[in-house]
Amino acid sequence: RAEDSIRPRNLNDYIGQKDLKEVLKIAIEAAKVRKEALDHLLLYGPPGLGKTTMSLILASEMGVNCKITAAPALERPRDITGLLINLKPGDILFIDEIHRLNRMSEELLYPAMEDHRLDITIGKGQAAKIRSIPLAPFTLIGATTKIGALTSPLRDRFGLIGRLRFYEADELLLIVLRTATILKVQITDEAALVIARRSRGTPRIANRLLKRVRDYVQVKGLEVITQELAAEALDQLNVDSRGLDWTDRLVLSTIIEQFKGGPVGLEAVAAATGEDAKTIEEVYEPYLLQIGYLNRTSRGRIATEAAYQHLGYN
Ligand code: ADE
Repeated sequence: RAEDSIRPRNLNDYIGQKDLKEVLKIAIEAAKVRKEALDHLLLYGPPGLGKTTMSLILASEMGVNCKITAAPALERPRDITGLLINLKPGDILFIDEIHRLNRMSEELLYPAMEDHRLDITIGKGQAAKIRSIPLAPFTLIGATTKIGALTSPLRDRFGLIGRLRFYEADELLLIVLRTATILKVQITDEAALVIARRSRGTPRIANRLLKRVRDYVQVKGLEVITQELAAEALDQLNVDSRGLDWTDRLVLSTIIEQFKGGPVGLEAVAAATGEDAKTIEEVYEPYLLQIGYLNRTSRGRIATEAAYQHLGYN
């Protein structure tokens, strides 16, 4: 799939997240020399910044397999035991949305992470017995958008904690140019910068917008993505000059028009916009906070002066 081929395969091809890369390079080198599994790693940060990609890269740098799953797929204890038992020495188990693990699955992970041991309960009530099954030494990579939602026993079992940050426009520019090369589309540097600026600091969005712009230019019968064409295509998609889409603007204009700019509680914003509160909190707000269009206070959300200006209220 194209999705797979545009992911960088090694750390040197991974653009941005400089501090995290430096920390991981040291951890990889040290673990390799000791012929051990990498320490368990918790990656946190907004969606689309490359947590899964980073895990696949770590597996390839370590020369091991990476099994990818997400907490909602691990409802029953046997879901997670099945995965753990099949891991080979050094393998990586990637669990996305790890803050959503249920209590039983989470408790199975504790001895697995600490002592490479699976404790399973057989039978019920008085007759219940615990059997311990040895596991291969492995690396758990947990990914979350909400580190605060993790229990401390789980969080404390990660030896490495890495935070992914929003990307700068110059980093996204390089990512767009790299993806364009892989997709064999011609694009000017100026056009790549237009896409980079409208991508909300997020590579996944940059790559998605590039594909939409490619469609637009192709249907017009043109060969090269220019600055003008990129802007035209993105305007048509309702992605504005700061990368805000229809929902971002709805969230801000709702706070401004219906709640006098705030402070207003998240639930009230969700009800008034018809969007899911969790989605607003985890998908839309992080970037609005990052660019200073929104503030979170103890009394609720506030639209900032910059938001009023951007939306043309004054
Ligand atoms: N594609 C998506 N994220 C990337 C990154 N951080 N570096 C290079 N290519 C990417």
